[in-house]
Amino acid sequence: MKLFLDTADMSQIREAIRWGIVDGVTTNPALVSRTGRPAEELYAEICATVPGPVSLECVSMDADGIVAEARRLAAISGNAVIKVPAMREGLVAVKRLAEEGIKTNVTLICSTMQAFLAAKVGATYVSPFVGRLDLMGQEGMETIRQIKTIYDNYRFTTEIIVASARHPKHVLESALAGAHICTIPIDVMELLYQHPMTDVGIQQFLAAWAKVPQERKPAPVAPATGA
Ligand code: G3P
Repeated sequence: MKLFLDTADMSQIREAIRWGIVDGVTTNPALVSRTGRPAEELYAEICATVPGPVSLECVSMDADGIVAEARRLAAISGNAVIKVPAMREGLVAVKRLAEEGIKTNVTLICSTMQAFLAAKVGATYVSPFVGRLDLMGQEGMETIRQIKTIYDNYRFTTEIIVASARHPKHVLESALAGAHICTIPIDVMELLYQHPMTDVGIQQFLAAWAKVPQERKPAPVAPATGA
């Protein structure tokens, strides 16, 4: 399963790329707003930095407007993927964008049927929002399992990005469900490395190592006199 970083923050992106586990980045209008930067200048910097797909979200609400906005965003970089909300006008636009070869990520997916329709119109990715579904009392991961089953049944090539992930268990369950990608904020990514028993073990080993006698330094070799 691929891991995407869910952020528009350049320092987080650079740091997580250094960790070697980031396959792509997803942004959304709320994440961009937090940076205080103009969107398209920021998008160009993110796309130039990330060695993988970068999702950039449309804010137009009608199909013609979405297509025009998507074309402009797609022109920013070859790795740009255009996020389109899972509404009827959005899916009309996704079909047209697919015909033009522009990659799309249908976002704010809250039901299995929305994901089914997105695949039918040729979406490259779908982003079901598991954390927000859990908050509503809907089982977010069950929606992921249903989408995976339907995509497998009909050999859809649309990839599932598990989005709105809140904790490492969402990442674990995404992988067990066979999701293609899970996108996570950097704090969840940091938690994936951690276990208290690992920290205890490291401290035990360091304490033991401090008691190991130091090696004797070899005696310095006298310089040759040439005699
Ligand atoms: O970027 C899409 C999604 O992951 C946002 O999640 O935390 O706003 O529910 P969240």
